[in-house]
Amino acid sequence: MAIRVLLLAGALLAFACSHGATASDPSHLQDFCVADKTSPVRVNGLACKAAKEVVVEDFYFSGLHVAGNTTNKQGSAVTAVNVAQIGGLNTMGVSLVRIDYAPFGLNPPHTHPRSTEILTVLEGCLHVGFVTSNPENKHFEKVLNKGDVFVFPKGLVHYQYNNRTTGAVAIAALSSQNPGVITIANAVFGAEPSIPAGITTKAFQVEKSTVDWIQAQF
Ligand SMILES: *[C@@H]1O[C@H](CO)[C@@H](O)[C@H](O)[C@H]1NC(C)=O
Ligand SMILES: *[C@@H]1O[C@H](CO)[C@@H](O)[C@H](O)[C@H]1NC(C)=O
Repeated sequence: MAIRVLLLAGALLAFACSHGATASDPSHLQDFCVADKTSPVRVNGLACKAAKEVVVEDFYFSGLHVAGNTTNKQGSAVTAVNVAQIGGLNTMGVSLVRIDYAPFGLNPPHTHPRSTEILTVLEGCLHVGFVTSNPENKHFEKVLNKGDVFVFPKGLVHYQYNNRTTGAVAIAALSSQNPGVITIANAVFGAEPSIPAGITTKAFQVEKSTVDWIQAQF
């Protein structure tokens, strides 16, 4: 009896550790698990292709030399290379992005719920920063030049701004096959259906007309 209770407690603890206390991409138990995008099986990640069907292209992507189109309101473009582009990234816990910035382009405040990010500037100069969680909400900011590297810790709100009259380019690696992106302004003011005005006015301590005006921008 005592042994059974002990085993149960052990199993529960193992479950809590793998499902609650840590939240990161799972460690892989095989050489690879190339995503089988045709599989109807739904798991945390993607089902694996049969190993004998895996080809070298499953680990390959071409195109990061191509600049993203920055003709948009923010003046920035993110080209992602994650498990959606490279099936071989399934269960590997990493991915990449190229970010292009027009003059005065902004990659607006956002967070990656599943990923730390390490970014390096290939061209130009970027004013970057992140903000820690409550209650401190401490803002760490830095101006980066070509070749500089900066880390945005997992889950924290961060941004990059090109404070120059010439374009900028950065490459960033992320610690998830599928980092996810939550752009703060879009989530709060661009939600569909919208968050009721009474909630946003109280949260931001502004008039309803201000909220309406911001919502109209999305
Ligand atoms: C870039 O995006 C803008 C706005 O969507 C579009 O008008 C333009 O044709 C695009 N440029 C290229 C080179 O794709
Ligand atoms: C832009 O650059 C100017 C000159 O270096 C600096 O005074 C200003 O604070 C910068 N603004 C931002 C938002 O980075």
